[in-house]
Amino acid sequence: MYHHIIAAVLLTAGSAFAAPAPQQAAPPAEVKCPIVFDGRVPVGTEPTFFDSYATNTIFNPDYVKGNDLKWSQILKFPSEEASRFDGADYTSVEVTLSDKSIFQKQNGFRRAGLQFLKDSPDGPGTIGVKTLHFSVKQDPTRPLNLTHEYLNVWHEAADYSSNQIQFQTGQLIGKSAADKNKFKILDRNGRSLYSVDIDQKNWQNFAIKLDYDKNQVQIYYSVGQAPLKSVAGPTSVNLAGGGQFQIGMLKKPTGTSDVVNSGYQSKNLNEGQVYGGIFLEDSAGSCVSL
Ligand SMILES: *[C@@H]1O[C@H](CO)[C@@H](O)[C@H](O)[C@H]1NC(C)=O
Repeated sequence: MYHHIIAAVLLTAGSAFAAPAPQQAAPPAEVKCPIVFDGRVPVGTEPTFFDSYATNTIFNPDYVKGNDLKWSQILKFPSEEASRFDGADYTSVEVTLSDKSIFQKQNGFRRAGLQFLKDSPDGPGTIGVKTLHFSVKQDPTRPLNLTHEYLNVWHEAADYSSNQIQFQTGQLIGKSAADKNKFKILDRNGRSLYSVDIDQKNWQNFAIKLDYDKNQVQIYYSVGQAPLKSVAGPTSVNLAGGGQFQIGMLKKPTGTSDVVNSGYQSKNLNEGQVYGGIFLEDSAGSCVSL
């Protein structure tokens, strides 16, 4: 009998030795350039922090979300591996959509988008050379429905007539379904600047350099904890028109030409997109944190 126990111990020890050495957690990436807007959420932030101007120093507590929802009901804080620019000090934040995600009277959309508290239509986010950083991760318990078109990060012009830059997924209305599983970065005319398959497991890190002086966009990308690399551009893009960034989801309906007000959205929605490492940095002098 003792032989059996010893054999079992030896086997266990053997398999432990055979297992790969535990991985050192990668050191968080450093932000090298001056931060203009910091959307990183410190670890331990209470959900209700996001609900009022009295506490929320990061995002606008009132916009852009379902009329009857508070941010503390919309946001979740997954405690998995931190994204590259969050490291040990900041937590990821999941933006969720439900049937109540109706903003004002926009019955066609389901939306919840974070705006940097200090971003303004003619503010520092709209001049010079700035780089928007964000990482995204998928929540298998709250999958997106890629039959629909989603905006996931964008910069909306001050007159609301267009988005100078839009990070999207799903089947774009009026376009082929062939690329519905990809993230797509488009200009205001829907021209594709970069696209990449959605990774269902790993963090995907993006940085979009917006040169408002030259009207050029350059895109950087990496997976997991790997440093960012330039993957597209600089490309000439019309960045005129001021406006504000939005980080979160706007899900368009199907079956309508009036996407704002009508169309089809399935019921009992429970969808989420995880974000991390959100910040806008000053890229004057070609500074980009990689
Ligand atoms: C995805 O969206 C389509 C179109 O609205 C709908 O028919 C389908 O039921 C949705 N799928 C899920 C899993 O909700």
